[in-house]
Formats: sequence, C-alpha cells, structure tokens
Amino acid sequence: MKITKTSISKLESTDFSNLPFGTVFSDHMLTCNFKHGKWGDPEVLPYGPISIAPGAKVLHYGQSVFEGMKAFKNSNNEVLLFRKEENYKRINRSAVRLSIPEIPEDIFMNGLDELLSLDNEWCKADEGYSLYIRPFIFASSEGVKASASEEYTFMIITSPSTKYYAGEMNLVVEDHYTRASKGGVGFVKAAGNYAASFYPTKKANANGFQQVIWTDSVEHKYIEESGTMNIWFRIGDKLITPELSDSILGGITRDSVLQLAKYNGIEVEERRILVDEIVEAYKSSNLKEAFGTGTAVTVNPIDSITLGDDKMRITTVVDSFALKLKQQLQGIQKGKTEDIFSWNSKVPVKV
Ligand code: COI
Repeated sequence: MKITKTSISKLESTDFSNLPFGTVFSDHMLTCNFKHGKWGDPEVLPYGPISIAPGAKVLHYGQSVFEGMKAFKNSNNEVLLFRKEENYKRINRSAVRLSIPEIPEDIFMNGLDELLSLDNEWCKADEGYSLYIRPFIFASSEGVKASASEEYTFMIITSPSTKYYAGEMNLVVEDHYTRASKGGVGFVKAAGNYAASFYPTKKANANGFQQVIWTDSVEHKYIEESGTMNIWFRIGDKLITPELSDSILGGITRDSVLQLAKYNGIEVEERRILVDEIVEAYKSSNLKEAFGTGTAVTVNPIDSITLGDDKMRITTVVDSFALKLKQQLQGIQKGKTEDIFSWNSKVPVKV
C-alpha cells in the first residue's frame, strides 16, 4: 500500500487532557477511490483537506454512509480493535441500501491495520482513552442528476477520544419528529439520518434536554432509539430493548451488551416497547434503570425521561446492570479481562 508519512506530526502539540469528542484527528488518513466500476488501490496520506467538485453528488443528494468503531491500547502497548468484522459487514449493509458499491474486505481490513499501525501513538493506554475510528464512503461523481453516483471515495480517519457525553442525560420523548420510517434507511448508518436528527435535537436542547427518545413514525407509541444510541430499560430484574427492524440501527455495542447480559444470566427481551409500558413501570416503581448504548458512548445511564409535562427521574440503583455491563465491556475492550467472545483483534506492528 502506498504510504506517505506526515513530515510534521501533531502528536506533541496535541493536548490529550482536553479532547472534546471527535474534534482532534490523528496524523494520517486512508483514502481509496471507486472509478470505472472498481475500487482502486488504497493509500495512506497525511490527514488534511481533500478536494471535491462542487457538483459532487454527495453534496447534493447526501449519498454517503459511515461507521463508528474503536481501538484501545492494552498494558503491553498493543492496539486492540473491537469487533472490526461487524463494522465491516455493517458499512456494506449501509452501502447496499444507499446504492453504493461495497468495499472489498482487504481494503477495509488492511487499511485499518496500516493506518492504526502508523498512528498507534494516538491510541493512549491510559484509563478512559480510546481511538475512535471513522470509516466513510461518499459519492464523488460530478452531476446534479438525481441518480446514484458512478464514482465514490472511501476514507478512514481516526480521532483520539475520551467521553462522548459528560454530565446528565435527560431525555424527552419525541412525539412529532421521526428518525426513521418503515422501508427507510434507519437501520443503516446513512449520513442523512444524523442530519435529520439535528433540528429535533436542537429543539430538545433548547428545552433543557440532552437528547430525544425516538418513537415509531406511525403512532409515536413505541420506543425506538435515543439520540444516536440504542436504548435499554431494566424493569424489575429484566432488561428490555427494542427488537431490530428497518427503523432501528443494529448497534454493535447493543449486540455486545446483549451477549454480555445473557452471559451474566440476566433475563433479556428484544421486543417492541410501548412508551406507556415504561410509564406504568415507573409508576409502579419497577423501572430500575434506563441506559443507551453505542460505539461512541459505550453504555450511558439515563437520568430522566420526560413525556409531555411529566418527568420520570431514574435514580441510581446499587447493583446497576448498566454499570456492571459497561465495566465488563470496557474490561474486554482494554484487554484487561478475558476476551470470552473473541471480540478483539490485535493491530500488527509495522515499523
Ligand atoms: C457511534 O456511536 O459511533 C455513532 O455512530 C454515533 C456518532 C454519530 C458519534
């Protein structure tokens, strides 16, 4: 693979004690173009601006998909990539739905290895650090005809990160706007899904909420997701989370938490969840916990849920499932506890 190293690394000048999520990028990026019906040779370059034609289809029709994945450094200074096969499968599921050509596995996997090996110093071993990895594909052909692009660019950039959210997580149930609809693109990571969520989120922020709880697009009766996270509730000693459908993203953290919960002997149900059911559980003091899961956030407790004028405050329980599952997940990711599900892969060191 062609590799051009940066002549001036930003490592020394980066303040690793202050990393607002996704604002600092590592020294290099991977890029690969799709032209004349095939993917070309990937290349690693210094991170920096790219040139794009004003007529590029992505700028007009949003034909773009992305992934979010994480790498961690263990105490032996090895970089561990978490469940990369799942991200590879999902970016191609997203690509197919957005009429984008699928990325060959060797380009995705070798690209990650080369990039992370080169930028492994950006992945810190200290507690709480990870390297957030953002693979993405966008339509690069020029032309404003509303049709799929002929040319695409695949890129991977990486960003050292700590916490996604700091502070409380107060949510409001969204009963007007919709994140995803039947037959739509909500089950994949289409860039536009996120763009469409910003306005309702901004309105919720203005009312003092950090995020919204998305409900189904038909009746706004069923809970689907929260912000950019999958959502979970503990009712008594049972965990419930919405079952996957074409309007719910198949989160890799969601799947990991599901497997860990079962491993711990926790009863888990994936099914449709009525907003009313959560209200009932709250009223009868059976709503013990609520939390969100996602690559960026890992496992994030929810402090309150507001429905209309009613705020349901969820107080911390002593034997929190969310905390236990988060600690187990992070222990595996950091290589501190046994990787019982073989989720990690080591990034080869290439000097
Ligand atoms: C992730 O958790 O990786 C996401 O996709 C959320 C992102 C929009 C920051």
